[in-house]
Amino acid sequence: MSDTPSVTVTKNGPYKIANVPNLTLSDKSEGTAKATMFLCRCGQSSNKPFCDGTHTKVGWEE
Ligand code: FES
Repeated sequence: MSDTPSVTVTKNGPYKIANVPNLTLSDKSEGTAKATMFLCRCGQSSNKPFCDGTHTKVGWEE
């Protein structure tokens, strides 16, 4: 497994954030170093900035 920081745009889904140390989110919380997280891209999540899977339920497409 690579430790290279990356941001991946998933098809019709969230941003996948991986291996980004000291990531600070808009609510001032910080990600854990090397954590993988999924950030909402559709605007429908009830747990922003994180994806909660709602994009699938509403059939969101990019
Ligand atoms: S991208 Fe998954 S809830 Fe918005």
